[in-house]
Amino acid sequence: MARGPVDLNGAGLGDMDPEAFRKYGYQLIDWIAEYLAHPERYPVLAHVQPGEIRAKLPEAPPEGPEPMEAILHDLDRVIVPGITHWNHPAFFGYFGISGSGPGILGELLCAAFNVNAMLWKTSPSATELEEVVLDWLRQMLGLPLSFTGVINDTASISSLCAIAAAREVVPGLKARQEGLPGRPDVPRLRLYTSEQAHSSIEKGAIVLGVGQEGVRKIRTDVAFRMDPEALEAAIAQDLKAGWRPFCVVATVGTTSTTSIDPVPEIADLCHRYNLWLHVDAAYGGAAAVLPEMRHVLDGCERADSLVMNPHKWLFTPIDLSAFYCRHPEVLKRAFSLVPDYLRTAEGEAVTNYMDYGVQLGHRFRALKLWMIFRYFGWDGIAARIREHLRMAQTFMAWVDADPDSERLAPVPFSVVCFRARPRDLADRLTSAGTQEAQEVERYLNLLNEALLEAVNQTGEAFLSSTRLHGRVTLRLAIGNIRTTKAHVARAWELLRSHGARLDRERRPPTLR
Ligand SMILES: Cc1ncc(COP(=O)(O)O)c(C=O)c1O
Repeated sequence: MARGPVDLNGAGLGDMDPEAFRKYGYQLIDWIAEYLAHPERYPVLAHVQPGEIRAKLPEAPPEGPEPMEAILHDLDRVIVPGITHWNHPAFFGYFGISGSGPGILGELLCAAFNVNAMLWKTSPSATELEEVVLDWLRQMLGLPLSFTGVINDTASISSLCAIAAAREVVPGLKARQEGLPGRPDVPRLRLYTSEQAHSSIEKGAIVLGVGQEGVRKIRTDVAFRMDPEALEAAIAQDLKAGWRPFCVVATVGTTSTTSIDPVPEIADLCHRYNLWLHVDAAYGGAAAVLPEMRHVLDGCERADSLVMNPHKWLFTPIDLSAFYCRHPEVLKRAFSLVPDYLRTAEGEAVTNYMDYGVQLGHRFRALKLWMIFRYFGWDGIAARIREHLRMAQTFMAWVDADPDSERLAPVPFSVVCFRARPRDLADRLTSAGTQEAQEVERYLNLLNEALLEAVNQTGEAFLSSTRLHGRVTLRLAIGNIRTTKAHVARAWELLRSHGARLDRERRPPTLR
């Protein structure tokens, strides 16, 4: 292949030279500071078509070095238009998250050190800081000393590790040594979780050979909380039918409605039937940082393991999931496998994080959490979360006071589930199950889908949706560190005005 003269960006064969790093580093920091100061200049949701960004990028890699100016120029020209701005203060979709200043600086340092904390000795600071910040977080959540932690990338992986540990303690199973397929000597395993649990629980069960049929989804009550009576009945029925119940996953802050399963009652059942209790508090756990919200983790002190995600509501750039286990030796039994080339002399005196999960490599994620905790302080973090809870209550009150809206779930945290429901259609819904009520429900689903699309298309706010009892449900999730009441008020204004307009335009004649 013919190549032009080799220009190595002036760096010889080594890395970018320190002066260039300093120059472009400052430039990028300026860029980021400006971006974070004015995220509202961008539409929240990227307004691009599938393939549009790709079409602006060359098909082949650059043959030679390109000037940094050109790369930074393309950041604005090509990349930014395809960004959905999770940092936008009117990002109300899924769970609002934040790349906070100290968290971003922590990420920068993490990349700069570029250590792999797989073993204590491959970076003692990374291991020991992780132990310390996880213990700080444990204290902030009000969990007992018996909980020790490891930082994973995501809650999905943390819950997978929990289910693996639960499987490890099933007597006689020896899944680690013997595997599960082709073994007539072992009963089929059963894991219980609510019908509102996050899909990651089922995925974990799939990966670990429990299978989708091995996951029994327990019905929830009117507030979308797991029904402990239904759980006990399911366990008893399964035992009779020859299944081996082994694990219950309770959720504190379910994904759709943020409901809180009754962990104390579930813990009683786990104790009675000798089942591993894992708590998925990926989102809701953060609220326990507030003394007045500690109760959301009631009963969790009796759990065998618990996950909470600082990358959801603790102002930590994605990714960082804190996984706690009261039996680290079980986790180690499930995962530790030490080849000759990774043996070290320190033995039990240190933590080697590679022993507590699937992957060998271990990022220095603790650094960003440390910087966030120190920069904002426990009080500062609590004050921000408190404000989010307050704004959610305000939005909830607006929904409740509006005759053309209907709230569809309680609001234990900072997510409000609701829908547009024009006042004159309310009466027609009361005779549920009738043909007319069904027609109204179908129309309301179409109306709310259109409303979500219309509001998101404005670029001024972004919400996501779910379905509750078949109803299209809009979710307004507050969690971004820059969100103020004005942003919430503007979202409400948009929802009200577009809702009224769409109802005028789309209502079928039969429902007029
Ligand atoms: C309750 C709950 N658990 C687990 C997850 C999965 O989180 P992650 O993306 O960290 O795997 C989510 C994601 O929203 C969640 O809401």
